[in-house]
Amino acid sequence: MKFPSEPFKIKVVEPIRRTTRAERERLLREAGYNLFRLPAESVYVDLLTDSGTSAMSDHQWAGMMLGDESYAGSKNYYHFEDTVRSIFGYKHVIPTHQGRMAENLLFSTVVKPGMCVPNNIHFDTTRANVEHQGAQALDVVVKMAYDPHDESPFKGNMDVIRLEETINRVGRDRIPLVLLTITNNSGGGQPVSMENIRNTRALLERYGIPLFFDACRFAENCFFIKEREPGYADRSILEIARELFSYGDGCTMSAKKDGLVNIGGFLNLNHDQWAQDITNMLILVEGFPTYGGLAGRDLEAMARGLREVLDEDYLNFRVGQVRYLGELLDQAGVPIVKPIGGHAVYLNAKEFLPHIPQAEFPAQSLAVSLYREHGIRGVEIGTVMFGTKEAGTGRTLHPELELVRLAIPRRVYTNMQIAYVAESIIDLYRRREGIRGLAMTYEAPMLRHFTARFEEL
Ligand code: F0G
Repeated sequence: MKFPSEPFKIKVVEPIRRTTRAERERLLREAGYNLFRLPAESVYVDLLTDSGTSAMSDHQWAGMMLGDESYAGSKNYYHFEDTVRSIFGYKHVIPTHQGRMAENLLFSTVVKPGMCVPNNIHFDTTRANVEHQGAQALDVVVKMAYDPHDESPFKGNMDVIRLEETINRVGRDRIPLVLLTITNNSGGGQPVSMENIRNTRALLERYGIPLFFDACRFAENCFFIKEREPGYADRSILEIARELFSYGDGCTMSAKKDGLVNIGGFLNLNHDQWAQDITNMLILVEGFPTYGGLAGRDLEAMARGLREVLDEDYLNFRVGQVRYLGELLDQAGVPIVKPIGGHAVYLNAKEFLPHIPQAEFPAQSLAVSLYREHGIRGVEIGTVMFGTKEAGTGRTLHPELELVRLAIPRRVYTNMQIAYVAESIIDLYRRREGIRGLAMTYEAPMLRHFTARFEEL
């Protein structure tokens, strides 16, 4: 079988409802054509995000009943800490309620105004958290990441040459740390190779700059290393993960992705002074260090999820299901980002809708049409999310890529539902000339995509 079938059977079901086109049309108007503002119950297949949307296993749910809700020293914390340390290998394990709090704690402790934090590509919350400290968030990914047709196996890689140029230009003292996002979400869910991680590490070691991973999809990245990188085919995912993290000084983690939980995250690091300062801040804004904004039962679910995500049958199905969707679309000529990413298929809106200029938000228009016609919700990753204003002129600078991400929740939808998504998009592609652009009527000063409103042109 080319695409692996589900390595689980379904024990509990959650009904989903189909709406009519007229209902969706009304809901879109009420939401100002922003899909974040839709009631989720009105969505048939929800591919807005793979974050916090996983189905937990019976083993995880059983663990929830073993939650020890003691304020300090919960037994679930120790299980969580042991599990995290055995996979990631760092000295300090600090639980947080989700990934962006780990980012916020790290950056508010070590990033100062005027500094600069390079990454392959920052995700929106990471970029915003860096900028919130008055620092600059720089994307230093390899050039091919911006070419949706380039089929290189590791398009998430850091451009090590440009990184060194950046360090020399900015000055070592203004770079408190470098991040590597695995897999590279904003660049199409593309993996970073072990070789690139080793090279990045070697460079940073020469300059004495710490390397951190934005690790939310680490297991999917490790699966790609096993599949694509010479020398790793016979290594287990756990072994690959241990090697990968050994090249870093810490990581931020949103366990809402590869922790297979609905809420949870953590920060790992080796640096004692940073850990002490962060822990003090954690107590102020999240909670005591043995729960970090979570319940004991959440920590237990996370500990169990982190083990399950390393299972190769699971990863084979997981990455295979995303690939199944991508290949159905590709065979029908629908423009997508290649190669197909680990957690999502990305529609290339510039090529899907060449008649809509970037100033009229083609990726947002495509996402809106997909919901209106078929009840499927994706997310825009283009000008709405990443457009910036030029200092002085106020002119909008458009990002290189104009994408609609179809993020597949883990263990949630059957392959038949995925086939429905493919058929719907192929139908929309045939009727693409009828899709119109949008004008933005409201935007917030930060992270505008969550609350922006639009009008149809
Ligand atoms: N880093 C990356 C690469 C992410 O994709 C996300 C979240 C975060 C950090 C922040 O984690 O949501 O737990 O605070 N990404 C979600 C998404 C929201 O839809 O891609 P969080």
